[in-house]
Amino acid sequence: TRRVLSGIQPTADSFHLGNYLGAIRQWVTLQENHDAFYMIADQHAITVEQDPKVLRERTRRSASQLLAAGLDPDRCTLFVQSHIPEHTQLQWVMSCLTGFGEAGRMTQFKDKSAKQGADRTTVGLFTYPVLQVADILLYQADAVPVGEDQRQHLELTRDLAARFNARFGRTFTVPEPFIVKDTAKIVDLQDPTIKMSKSASSPSGIINLLDEPKASAKKIRSAVTDTGREVVFDEENKPGIANLLRIASALTGRAVAELEEAYAGRGYGDFKKDVAEALVEFVTPFQERTNAYLDDPAELDAILAKGALKAREVAAETLRAAYERIGFLPPR
Ligand code: TYM
Repeated sequence: TRRVLSGIQPTADSFHLGNYLGAIRQWVTLQENHDAFYMIADQHAITVEQDPKVLRERTRRSASQLLAAGLDPDRCTLFVQSHIPEHTQLQWVMSCLTGFGEAGRMTQFKDKSAKQGADRTTVGLFTYPVLQVADILLYQADAVPVGEDQRQHLELTRDLAARFNARFGRTFTVPEPFIVKDTAKIVDLQDPTIKMSKSASSPSGIINLLDEPKASAKKIRSAVTDTGREVVFDEENKPGIANLLRIASALTGRAVAELEEAYAGRGYGDFKKDVAEALVEFVTPFQERTNAYLDDPAELDAILAKGALKAREVAAETLRAAYERIGFLPPR
């Protein structure tokens, strides 16, 4: 069976609709017929300042939401990155194969560091993509389900895997990105030129899965659209409507063409109202399930402990092979 790995940062109280449609939904599907490893990237989270108590709480909230979304601990390995020391160990090795300029060309780093200024940008933020490379290569992943914004990090992963293999002999699987085009970039509800994101979106532009469903429904109904009336998929001229069509299609399982037909001649108001309803129908039971997991931290921690045990086995074996190839003297 093919193996997949992916990760998500615990940097907010709630995941947003972009996280869910762009990534988590695919994770749930892929666990059915893949050897699936999914991690909460708490080490990536500390590349920007975190309050310790909040970070711990958000890690549990992340796990609860992933389980509520449908990850099944019997079908996948769900773990916390910092529980597996091999991630930072392999990161060091890979960082010694990464060019300084190569790392400097990562657009997420350039964007974030430009916003923060050089003195507030950490070295950790700079080497962040190399940690992600280690995350993926440790598990010999064939495919990595992510949204469009992670494509460049996956290119770096492929380059470094191939570079290591060429220099030291075949050690790592070179992974493919698994990006579902229709939902790879959910955009901000108020500004369709930017992606929906916890750092860049205004409160009315982002749908957090754990927000009050009524408030989220209202955000959908007041999403920015153009001055036309027809509900048709036109990325160029109707990016707001295109985004809502993508969201509606993913949430209801109805094809975009089918939705266009259903709303022909009915205008934006009707359409938005139904998208809002579909969202409420999804988030209401999702929130109930999330809260049930949050109410049982012992059970949650047991699931994560079991995941760590399984993940560690795979990670340790890969690290051992990499250490040997690179010429480290094995300890005895
Ligand atoms: P993160 O935590 O920012 O986002 C988690 C996942 O959500 C996707 N995503 C989106 N998809 C569609 N539309 C959007 N508006 C949108 N916003 C976010 C992201 O593409 C991502 O798949 N560096 C990663 C976490 C990570 C990782 C890994 C991923 C750490 N190690 C190893 C894959 C493999 C990140 O910050 O994702």
